[in-house]
Amino acid sequence: MSKQYNIGVIKGDGIGPEIVDEAIKVLDAVAAKEGIAFNYSEYLMGGVAIDATGVPLPQETIDGALKSDAVLFGAIGGPKWDNLERHLRPESGLLALRKALNAFANIRPAIVYDELVNASTLKPEVVQGVDLIVVRELTGGIYFGEPKGREGDKAYNTMVYTIPEIERIAKVAFEIAMKRGKKICSVDKANVLDVSQLWRETVERIAKDYPEVELSHMYVDNAAMQLIRNPKQFDVILTGNIFGDILSDEASMLSGSIGLLPSASTGGPTGVYEPIHGSAPDIAGQGIANPIATIASASMMIRFELGLEAAADRIDNAIKKALAEGYRTGDLAAFDAKTVCNTQEMGDVIARFAAE
Ligand code: IPM
Ligand code: MN
Repeated sequence: MSKQYNIGVIKGDGIGPEIVDEAIKVLDAVAAKEGIAFNYSEYLMGGVAIDATGVPLPQETIDGALKSDAVLFGAIGGPKWDNLERHLRPESGLLALRKALNAFANIRPAIVYDELVNASTLKPEVVQGVDLIVVRELTGGIYFGEPKGREGDKAYNTMVYTIPEIERIAKVAFEIAMKRGKKICSVDKANVLDVSQLWRETVERIAKDYPEVELSHMYVDNAAMQLIRNPKQFDVILTGNIFGDILSDEASMLSGSIGLLPSASTGGPTGVYEPIHGSAPDIAGQGIANPIATIASASMMIRFELGLEAAADRIDNAIKKALAEGYRTGDLAAFDAKTVCNTQEMGDVIARFAAE
């Protein structure tokens, strides 16, 4: 019997189902070659869950995710659910899933594929060779801090971090840095915020256990500027929840299309792997979305969560080959395309190359 892995699948809203289907196609192509098998169980989250059950994250989805070896997720949200109260919106489902899975470490690589160096809005010489990872704390900070609320004419949220929360995310960043360029830039606002001073002190302390890693600190405003000025100076960026939210969107655009980059939310019993882009309701159902970010997320999932290095290499190499041979979905059609393809055709090409 081949080795079996149980994958929880949350397709979500908008383009979610279309792109996740292509990732599954590629996973199955690789499984056949590697003599393994993936079993998929689908769960609802986001708008589709609201429509079917009244809540964005049904208990069944949490239970299903917890018993899966890993979760592959598409995207959630759309105009249909924009006017609901905050706790009933699709996004609340995602935040609650992260919390339920204790997925405190969000890993967002930004790499610039050589073939697409012209797709960036920045000059090719600025972005060529960019290969950085944002390590974002995901279950704390101002997203979850108490107290929060509204009273009369004011509204408030609280940015809170405890030492253990900072230590555990810092360790994740240092471990990643050890396997890469051995450089960490910790991003905070320690010139203004108490919570950032604690962040900085704690990261400094953890750094003592990793003498090989070169640690620097940057204020978040400067980091936002440096990412555009000279992104190649970064290897691993370690930061808190909201700064990481903002900086990872910024970093993603170095690569030219938000449709290319994967992410992982890990640290707890089951990790969630998803493209960094959203549900793109404007193009949903047309079969034109770029599935590469989701396919790359599937690769990250089997590499980091399941330890399937050879299978993951197959997928990563297949993506590179598809781009090198000029296959492009519409979002990148203007950049050295030889064959413009739809979502399914891109999935087919990558699945074929991955099985070679
Ligand atoms: C992200 C998203 C989410 C976040 C939203 C949808 C809640 O922007 O994954 O970056 O802010 O974390
Ligand atoms: Mn975001």
